[in-house]
Amino acid sequence: MGVLSIGSMNLDYVYRVPHLVKPGETLTASAMETNPGGKGLNQALALAKAGASVRHAGCVGRTGEPLRDLLAEHGVDVSLVQTVDVPQGSAVIQVDEATGQNSIVIFGGSNRALSESRVTELLDTAKDDDVVLLQNEISAMGSILTGCAKRGLAVILNPAPYSDDLATMDLSSLAWLIVNEVEVAQLTGTENPDMAWTVVRNRWPQASLVVTLGERGSVCFSGDERIVQPAFAVDAVDTTAAGDTFIGYFVAGLQEGLPLPRCLARASLASAIAVTRPGAAPSIPTRDEVDADERLRH
Ligand code: RIB
Repeated sequence: MGVLSIGSMNLDYVYRVPHLVKPGETLTASAMETNPGGKGLNQALALAKAGASVRHAGCVGRTGEPLRDLLAEHGVDVSLVQTVDVPQGSAVIQVDEATGQNSIVIFGGSNRALSESRVTELLDTAKDDDVVLLQNEISAMGSILTGCAKRGLAVILNPAPYSDDLATMDLSSLAWLIVNEVEVAQLTGTENPDMAWTVVRNRWPQASLVVTLGERGSVCFSGDERIVQPAFAVDAVDTTAAGDTFIGYFVAGLQEGLPLPRCLARASLASAIAVTRPGAAPSIPTRDEVDADERLRH
């Protein structure tokens, strides 16, 4: 199984603040950094750091070329990344310095330059046993999902950020749905993972489901399996890209053919390590760091 990741690549402008800004408030940040990010980039990078084989497709503006270089340096095949004459996609991120929680505003920019004709070209490069990994920060999502359905290409979807039009798209190729507790409620109408699984099974009988629950861990449903993975306790510095790290490591585990409990445990630990470090892409641990962590052995 090869992974074709089609997704966003952002420049993240990260502000460390005493609390997340309130309406009408002006707040002074104690630090500001510009980092690579974007859910597509983060997940492709996490896959590569986990040792998986991944091709990433997306669009960068002229100022975003270092984002492509970063992926290439970590072994992601970036031959399908296009440079476009559109302002670089970006995110403004506040990180609460006490809790590590964040709030994020994204500007689509170059990520919205993916055209329907380009989608056809990208999907034509896919092999029958490739899976297509998607989030929801790029244009042409409907065309990608329809194209995957027509070609019988399995889709792993992280519907983040959620938008109502997703539910109207062709998800007949959905193999895995990976959501957090907010997205699961938006997509299925319930925050309860077991009830959400019933909804998912009725709507997309071919799909499996992972719900990530932050400090409460994650739960995975696939066929008749229900696996609960507790979270690893950490002192959070910055929760940005925790979910992306989880997804990259989880999909890498699927590519390796690991049993689901092992995929979940490793993804959970990688994500726990990521939240102890600042930034999105820079916080993603390497496979060696994850494997060396004693907590995976228990
Ligand atoms: O999931 C974290 C990411 O969300 C950030 O890197 C930011 O770019 C937004 O896409």
